[in-house]
Amino acid sequence: MEKEKKQCNCKNKKDLFLEKLFQEYLPEKDNLIQMLNEVQEHYGYVPMHVQKVLSEFLNVPMAEIYGVVTFYSRFSLEPQGKYKISVCLGTACFVKGSQKIMDRLVDRLKIKEGETTKDGLFTIEQTRCVGACGLAPVFTVNGEVYGRASVQKLDQVLDELIEKEKQAK
Ligand code: FES
Repeated sequence: MEKEKKQCNCKNKKDLFLEKLFQEYLPEKDNLIQMLNEVQEHYGYVPMHVQKVLSEFLNVPMAEIYGVVTFYSRFSLEPQGKYKISVCLGTACFVKGSQKIMDRLVDRLKIKEGETTKDGLFTIEQTRCVGACGLAPVFTVNGEVYGRASVQKLDQVLDELIEKEKQAK
């Protein structure tokens, strides 16, 4: 027998995305990851209030949902910037000076690692080896690798992105 679909009982009744999501999926625990993928893609992160309504909808404890969100790196608890800049601080990159690149990034964007700029454009992260040690030191922008990097290279990439965003306004 087909399971009855639950109504979205989230506080924000105007959230059409959530209403549609709860219509598309049956309230089965096996749907959790796929639903989280859609939430991450739509909001750019997995907000706490959405974890709560997912918990009610799927009848899965909040702690379990939180555990899944924090286990997989593709899910985020905080809003992410349009450009996620990750500096590799793995051994090969670190010995070639990647910490200086990270310091410069923090200095220029005026945020700390793990934070996003107020304009929503940039998020800073550190990574541990992206598998490009031969190109050390390395940083990535939305997964695109910049090898044999330097503070100057970072400045150039940042300037280009900032300029691109200015042009788009
Ligand atoms: S340590 Fe940086 S890519 Fe491997």
